[in-house]
Amino acid sequence: MTREKVTVPAIRERKGGAKLKVVTAYDTPTARIADRAGADIILVGDTLAHVVLGYEDTLPATVDIMIHHMAAVARAKPAALIAGDMPWLSYHISVEEAVRNAGRLIREGGADCVKLEGGRKRLPVIEAILAAEIPVMGHLGLTPQSIHTMGGYRVQGKHFEAARELVEDARALADAGVFSMVLEGVPDVLAQIVTHEISVPTIGIGAGQHCDGQVLVFHDVLGMHNDHLARFVRQYAHLADTATSALQQFFVDIQSGAFPADAESYHMDEESARMLRDFIANEE
Ligand code: KIV
Repeated sequence: MTREKVTVPAIRERKGGAKLKVVTAYDTPTARIADRAGADIILVGDTLAHVVLGYEDTLPATVDIMIHHMAAVARAKPAALIAGDMPWLSYHISVEEAVRNAGRLIREGGADCVKLEGGRKRLPVIEAILAAEIPVMGHLGLTPQSIHTMGGYRVQGKHFEAARELVEDARALADAGVFSMVLEGVPDVLAQIVTHEISVPTIGIGAGQHCDGQVLVFHDVLGMHNDHLARFVRQYAHLADTATSALQQFFVDIQSGAFPADAESYHMDEESARMLRDFIANEE
């Protein structure tokens, strides 16, 4: 059954309603799987730098890299809304550059909206992107692009002052017009308060159960690697192990000659085969 395309207004209307189901995807097959499973939003996150390109963190992602992966997701034509992550330095240098880069994610990457990290200090950029008719998703709390400023991936807003600042950031972003907001790596009570305080849906990752939706990284949920997992990840499959066993069996079958079988081979008619053999034999 084909689903109706999920739109930005439809996401906004989900505030306080059925929880938003969000997952990352970085290419066509994973986008197809996410969409078939019923994702509301597919996030082409800059986590792709780490998850599928093997870098240590998200900082090496560039606008060109993001577009390359976003366009692959867009070619899956998902009903889910495609959120395109703005990578580090694509919106930090000038407002003009930020709008141009956001536009590239939409025009060349096929994203339906963009996501960017940060609070009140990003307001001029957020306002300018919104003024260009590009919907923006906010991202507060543990913002991986600030890894060096934070001194590592640390839960944010654990104490009163930092928590109060985060609530003010969330209010300011919502007032500016973001249509939804990721809350990452914050205490559950803080996420609950922010969710209550703002009129747009919050999407949690390591932010407890009170958000309006949840997001996880595709490869983490499905166990597509054997790396360390953050405590907020729940694994619903162990595909890396399944894939390794399947390939081991494939290699056993190659060595034993069990692969390929007759049904997995192409054939020519008997007469042509006989003529070819005779021709080769006469050549010698
Ligand atoms: O880049 C990303 O995938 C993200 C999510 C983990 C929220 O920002």
